[in-house]
Amino acid sequence: MILIVDFGSQYNQLIARRVREQRVFCQIVPPTITKQEIINAAPNGIILSGGPASIYDQKSPKIDPALFSMGIPVLGICYGMQFMVSALGGKVNRSKKREYGFAQFSARKTESIFADITKPTQCWMSHGDSVKTLPKGFVITGTTDNTPKAAVAHIKKRLFGVQFHPEVEHTPLGKKILRRFLFDVCDCKRNWTMRSFAKNAIADIQDRLGSDKVILGLSGGVDSSVTALLLHRAIGKQLTCIFVDNGLLRLNEAQKLKQTLTHKLKIKIRFVSAKRKFLTALSGVTDPETKRKIIGNVFMKVFEAEAQKMKGVSFLAQGTLYPDVIESISAFGGPTAVIKSHHNVGGLPQKMKLKLVEPLRYLFKDEVRKLGKALGLSDELIWRQPFPGPGLGIRIIGEITAKRLTILREADDILLAEIRAAGLYKKLWQSFAVLLPFKSVGVMGDKRTYEHILALRAVTSSDAMTADWARLPQPLLARISNRIINEVNGINRVVYDISSKPPGTIEWE
Ligand code: XMP
Repeated sequence: MILIVDFGSQYNQLIARRVREQRVFCQIVPPTITKQEIINAAPNGIILSGGPASIYDQKSPKIDPALFSMGIPVLGICYGMQFMVSALGGKVNRSKKREYGFAQFSARKTESIFADITKPTQCWMSHGDSVKTLPKGFVITGTTDNTPKAAVAHIKKRLFGVQFHPEVEHTPLGKKILRRFLFDVCDCKRNWTMRSFAKNAIADIQDRLGSDKVILGLSGGVDSSVTALLLHRAIGKQLTCIFVDNGLLRLNEAQKLKQTLTHKLKIKIRFVSAKRKFLTALSGVTDPETKRKIIGNVFMKVFEAEAQKMKGVSFLAQGTLYPDVIESISAFGGPTAVIKSHHNVGGLPQKMKLKLVEPLRYLFKDEVRKLGKALGLSDELIWRQPFPGPGLGIRIIGEITAKRLTILREADDILLAEIRAAGLYKKLWQSFAVLLPFKSVGVMGDKRTYEHILALRAVTSSDAMTADWARLPQPLLARISNRIINEVNGINRVVYDISSKPPGTIEWE
């Protein structure tokens, strides 16, 4: 495995992705990691990430320099290289001008990590400081026009530094550099597959849980479904899933879920119908944040009441993913556990004295999908577009009523059916309908109508942090609009949302 020391780079997760793409397991750790913790982790190699700080800053992140004499290969990227150089007695220059963007990189020594860089190649730079003098035993291994010491190394000690970012797309041969580091220098094995993960995870769960009982809040999304499946494989009937129908689901959603998870996969699920409780609590509420809070609170209460009915439960399982975990370990030892509220069943664990089990906490989303596939989950569940916890509640602008829910459900179903028929469902991050609180005038069969406006939203995105509105083909938009206006009672006008995120958000509320 590889340890990635987080010096605060915006590319940390990208470095981790690049390593895992090579089927090598890696973990992101804070710079406060101790020598003993490194020894315990027994990594094949260590990558020091870049970061926004200058090593001259008082508060710049630092790691114990003992790391450089442990015989473990190290690759320092940007700030990581500067830290290594300065910690080992070299000098780093504070430049007046930041170098940001493309540069031509030439490798001096075509050995080890640059074995594939035989001629000048493009690389991506983003730095203020540069290496001025080298520590003892180091040599220059590459240059760019502006940065004479763009890559340095202590070949014998297997310490490498690059000023540029090999992990980004803008460094086209970056993957090859990382690959050389992983396999030629660190001697890693390509054994990180979802099959091997599942095998180990199942054994770990069995070990930790013994004969204890576990509950899991199932949402129907891929994360909680895969968590359920993995636990079910490990401990079978000791797992009980709780699915709360909040009445804010899409058309036939609860039934479909029942079909797949209970009947096909034989997982034990308690379906709790709490539609009325949610609708009553939401009656008359129009403010988006208040709606979210109410939905969250009612969910907690219903879930807790159901969990209390079960005897002898000692664990709560959650589908927390690695990005949520990383968010909580910042480079500066900063804030703890900012796990997204939808992954987290509030204060339940403490209140009910439950221990947490989070078997997906080292996985990225695409790995969860692969794991789902390896465990036999249907493509339909694996490739579901994300659906927010508060459901249609935040897609009905204004008050949520049973009637308005019916209208939105029908329209949303048509939209999704057409998107699927056009083969676009998997390509879009999300596609959904939003019901607006205004009416507009129309004409239908020679008669004046005065009905709801519906907005369509379809976005492309890779992580929901940013998103662009999808350029859906016009004939498809025409078909969706036509069908909705003709088939859904209560809508006479359809509009398409052409806002990106930022400055918009994906959901409307
Ligand atoms: P926004 O609207 O902030 O959404 O651009 C980003 C992503 O998060 C989803 N989302 C939620 N998911 N509970 C969830 O489980 C929520 O309260 C929630 N709010 C937004 C949204 O669908 C999008 O994928």
